[in-house]
Amino acid sequence: MTTHVVPDARTAGSLVAERIARLVRAVPAAVIGVATGSSPLPVYRALADLVDGGLDLSRVTWFALDEYVGLPPEHPESYRSVLDRELVAPLGLDRLRVHVPEPGSDPYAAAAAYEADIVRAGGIDLQLLGIGGNGHLGFNEPGTPFGIPTHVAELTHATRRDNARFFPSLLEVPTLCVTQGLGTIGRARAHALIATGEAKAAAVAAALTGPVGPECPGSLLQRCPDVFVALDDAAAGGV
Ligand code: GLP
Repeated sequence: MTTHVVPDARTAGSLVAERIARLVRAVPAAVIGVATGSSPLPVYRALADLVDGGLDLSRVTWFALDEYVGLPPEHPESYRSVLDRELVAPLGLDRLRVHVPEPGSDPYAAAAAYEADIVRAGGIDLQLLGIGGNGHLGFNEPGTPFGIPTHVAELTHATRRDNARFFPSLLEVPTLCVTQGLGTIGRARAHALIATGEAKAAAVAAALTGPVGPECPGSLLQRCPDVFVALDDAAAGGV
């Protein structure tokens, strides 16, 4: 694990974008896992600059970490829509190369199909991650077994409250999701974690230096062989 502590989120985003660019220059048809939430936004901005400078992402295949159950894909807060806005449009990607779970009317079948799609693509070369305030990865909440594949999960009250800022009210935040499991995430060949802001300091410390186990899903990263961590000073406060 290599940990970089920098003064601000923008610089952290640039470092992670460079890590992604290094992979794509070596492996143009790389498979990259992408995250939603506010943490990865500086990464996508910095990647857009690299694309403007000539980085070719046209052969990359992308897999989102998770998707809400119960929101139609065209809902502005579905992760499909969020990735369309924040990744596909600014980077000029082919939308068909960006896979997002499609829970529809059978989220359990969708979870199994998504896991199979990742396997068929050859697995994930580099998984970009944010981390929840309680240490969650994707929507794998504390207590989730490390080996679990893509599955249907229930969001904790704390996570729904955190994500309520994107919805008119807490009541409208979905209660279920399809998420890559910790088994899926753990099988990625490399990982890049970005965390910024004081609210992440405790989760970052627990994930990177605390005991390894399901009580902190992020601690899975301590078992992964190639982990690039970019933190701002505030998020690194507890490490
Ligand atoms: C969400 C997402 C996670 C994300 C986390 C942190 O619930 N499912 O993938 O890492 O919350 O979000 P943020 O980066 O906005 O703090």
